[in-house]
Amino acid sequence: MTASINAPTKPMLAALAGQKLERPPFWLMRQAGRYLPEYRQVRAQAGGFLDLCLNPELACEVTLQPLRRYGMDAAILFSDILIVPWALGQGLRFAEGEGPVLDAIRDQAGLSRLDPAGLQRRAAPIYETVSRIRAALDPRTALIGFAGSPWTVACYMVEGGGSKEYAQVKRFAYGDPVGFARLIDLLVDATTDYLAAQVEAGAEILQLFDSWAGVLSAADFRRFSIEPTRRIVAALKQRYPHVPIIGFPRMAGLNLEAYVAATGVDAVSLDPGVPPEWAAKHLQPKVTVQGNLDPVLLLTGGQGLDDATNHLLQTLGQGPFIFNLGHGIIKETPPDHVDRLAKLIRG
Ligand code: CP3
Repeated sequence: MTASINAPTKPMLAALAGQKLERPPFWLMRQAGRYLPEYRQVRAQAGGFLDLCLNPELACEVTLQPLRRYGMDAAILFSDILIVPWALGQGLRFAEGEGPVLDAIRDQAGLSRLDPAGLQRRAAPIYETVSRIRAALDPRTALIGFAGSPWTVACYMVEGGGSKEYAQVKRFAYGDPVGFARLIDLLVDATTDYLAAQVEAGAEILQLFDSWAGVLSAADFRRFSIEPTRRIVAALKQRYPHVPIIGFPRMAGLNLEAYVAATGVDAVSLDPGVPPEWAAKHLQPKVTVQGNLDPVLLLTGGQGLDDATNHLLQTLGQGPFIFNLGHGIIKETPPDHVDRLAKLIRG
């Protein structure tokens, strides 16, 4: 036991413990998904996307599909950040071609319809999936569990789906600060419990996706992104000090340094807008960095993909680094381009 904590044999765990490796470990956000024909086949068999997330056998299968092709250093649980609102009792469906649709919560009355006591029961199939994946992985591959951060999940819960401006969720936050704080508090607790159960089921690393961190002012970023993340990380670290946590405050820009300094995450995942030279100097001395190839370069392939990948390897490869994209794989990406990327990273 102790030996595996002191000298992790999995490249992902070594990088997250702050080691600089000869070749960085890699995985890709949304590595399981519609760009793979074998995913589309299982997806059709499952029925809807939510049915797939809640089917442990099929969710385990699609989690493993990209690993068979490309041998990533990590598997990420196949699920979605919107499972938490769903498991809290909020109506959710994935409409073909328009993304997620939720029964929007705009006030205290909406909040009181949520049922936190039912979370673990409803989320049980997700934990079953985690156990199955862990049992199927080879000893070098790490399993990542995940959740959305409270701010990003609240965005979907209040807007009722995706949004460009995030005006409804901000109106709630500014117009009813007490009610909105209740929603954030509820999500801090639910997310902590949900991630703890993933660890109990076999997750070895956790990632928190804060996809909409970039729409917040600096003061609100502290309140709604940093502070809830810090509370979740502190609660999980108390129970599972050995489980590394990766934070992904997308488009956080100048707020990244404060996020790294204040949340307690072991690693920070960077969107494509963060200059790697800047990250090497200002973030990497403090945490492991993950990222940040533009997914459009992977879609396009060719010399642009090669050059950008080599540049990242040179710049961030000098410190603790996990190679990844700066956001999820785009569904039109040719699988051959992913093959090329995997070869470039392995050298
Ligand atoms: O990375 C992985 O391979 C693990 C699985 C995963 C999914 N979603 C599968 C998925 C993860 C980690 C997520 C996270 C997620 N989900 C985020 C955070 C990351 C980000 O993209 O910013 C967000 C914001 C969501 C919410 C969500 N889920 C949206 C907006 C959509 C619709 C957009 C789309 O691409 O269709 C989803 C659906 C979704 N989640 C799909 C997948 C594979 C596509 C569903 C399908 O098969 O039709």
